[in-house]
Amino acid sequence: MKLAFIGTGNMGGSLLAGVLAGELGSAAEVVATTRSTASGQALAEKLGITVLDLESDAAANRTAAAGADYVFLGVKPWMIADTLADLEGAIAENAVVVSMAAGVSLAQLAAGAPGHAVVRIMPNTPSSIGLGVISLAADGVSEETISELAQLLAGAGDVIPVPEEQMHAAIAMAGSSVAYFFLVMESLIDAGIAQGLSREAATRMVVGAANGAGQLAASDPRPADLRIAVTSKGGTTAAALASLENDDIRGVMARAAEACADRSREMEAGN
Ligand SMILES: NC(=O)c1ccc[n+]([C@@H]2O[C@H](COP(=O)([O-])OP(=O)(O)OC[C@H]3O[C@@H](n4cnc5c(N)ncnc54)[C@H](OP(=O)(O)O)[C@@H]3O)[C@@H](O)[C@H]2O)c1
Repeated sequence: MKLAFIGTGNMGGSLLAGVLAGELGSAAEVVATTRSTASGQALAEKLGITVLDLESDAAANRTAAAGADYVFLGVKPWMIADTLADLEGAIAENAVVVSMAAGVSLAQLAAGAPGHAVVRIMPNTPSSIGLGVISLAADGVSEETISELAQLLAGAGDVIPVPEEQMHAAIAMAGSSVAYFFLVMESLIDAGIAQGLSREAATRMVVGAANGAGQLAASDPRPADLRIAVTSKGGTTAAALASLENDDIRGVMARAAEACADRSREMEAGN
């Protein structure tokens, strides 16, 4: 199997690292591209793959895509149309175009890559260590192709097929939510420092607790039950949770998810 990764920065590079660790990906022939020579060299060194860059060769994207079975698009959303225009005629007839861009619809992808099967995925950065969540939407693509693609992406994480209209919610839940968890960690570390801890100790405590909570929830995915189990009536956890509920933590999260999904809808509408 031959894979092309067109535009391989934070997200494309994370996804590719996970794919390369999987069974199908480790056996695949992979060519990735970047805009600059410097980032291309750094990526080639990090992942041990061939990376072409546009700074050295204006035809880098076309060369990488030629003969690939799957052409992954990891450029910024506003660059998808131009990138597909640049790739016109270079993508093999039976190749599948897989975009990870937020706010670029299947219809827009199909218009940019006429005649090709198009798939939309929404990964997140823990894909680099095989702990990603990858939402996937496709229209008119064969079951065999979806199954092969899901197998390929399995090295990067949990692949969750969704109808395309749910992609906005998927971005709010997984594509972007990793950053909300980082923000929660940052805030809690600052709170620990305000309580007299060193930054190092607070960071170890918070990151360790987040990791433990994530792993527990992954093994028993009922967060409400896990929360209730650690909350003694009248105890310290109950005091903290009452403060969070009083400050409308649920409303805060709902509004963040709504802002994220709304922005995704706006981007899809071209705003
Ligand atoms: N970041 C996330 O957590 C996340 C999550 C889900 C989806 N996404 C989606 O992933 C896509 C990429 O986001 P990102 O955060 O990874 O951006 P990024 O780090 O800026 O990566 C963009 C990559 O595209 C390269 N590039 C720029 N112009 C190019 C061109 N004309 N042809 C080929 N490559 C080109 C860049 O090369 P240089 O480095 O040399 O400029 C870089 O490797 C976006 O569409 C975004 O919606 C991101």
